[in-house]
Amino acid sequence: MKKEDRSIGIFDSGMGGLTIAKEIKRLLPHESLIYYGDSKHLPYGDKSKEVIIEYSEKITNFLLENNCKAIVIACNTATANALKEVKALANEKNVPVYDVISPVAEKVAFTFNQNVGVLATKSTITSHIYKKSIQKLNKHINVYELAAPLLVPVIEEGFNNHEISSIVLKTYLTNKKLQNIDSLILGCTHYPLIINEVRNFYLNKIQVIDSPLIVASYIKQDLENKKLNSQIQNPSYEFYVSDLTPTFSKLAKKFFGSCIHLRVVDIFNKIRI
Ligand code: DGL
Repeated sequence: MKKEDRSIGIFDSGMGGLTIAKEIKRLLPHESLIYYGDSKHLPYGDKSKEVIIEYSEKITNFLLENNCKAIVIACNTATANALKEVKALANEKNVPVYDVISPVAEKVAFTFNQNVGVLATKSTITSHIYKKSIQKLNKHINVYELAAPLLVPVIEEGFNNHEISSIVLKTYLTNKKLQNIDSLILGCTHYPLIINEVRNFYLNKIQVIDSPLIVASYIKQDLENKKLNSQIQNPSYEFYVSDLTPTFSKLAKKFFGSCIHLRVVDIFNKIRI
């Protein structure tokens, strides 16, 4: 197999990363994908840095063992805590690593407005990774960060576009930290499922940033630059999870946009089913 025809490996704490995988599939239709969702340990958002590093390293090794040509950390929380460690493992094999924060920070620093809000998990907010990444590129941008820990379970339970998501969102978006923003980053890969609700809340008066599009466009460009882009006509898509629940199967379709076959590979206990 030619080196550029190997799969892109993508991982997340669960199914949120499927929103990134969906956009990668749309923009890069000739690329084969291997997705790993660590549903057994979801959510990462309230776990310690050490534990997130341990899980992320295990998954990275799994993707590298499966001969992936690139690794996409499709999870803000894993990016905030384990980017350095994932890069160290992948670099040994000369495999590039993409994350979901750097391309967005770059875009925001040079394209968007001056007062940027960030909604994300507790762990991502505590790390201040968005603030640091954006202000490193443009120190004139004000960044207002707010943890929104209830949103992941609300979305996981299918309560998006629902009275429940509307109340939870209103509670967060009316927080005084976000009162002067002119753009908002949805800093969690689950949140694209509520992007329209957020836009409606603001009556389209503030810019709600479409992270999957920015991330997938960045990956497309970079793979082309590195001559690592594939042209195969029949790419394959493999989806693995560390634990499979009926809810997960049902929601995976909603996140990815089409039916997918999920296989359980518990790399943490080395159980293959
Ligand atoms: N998908 C994760 C992220 O982007 C959030 C879910 C979790 O807490 O595990 O941060």
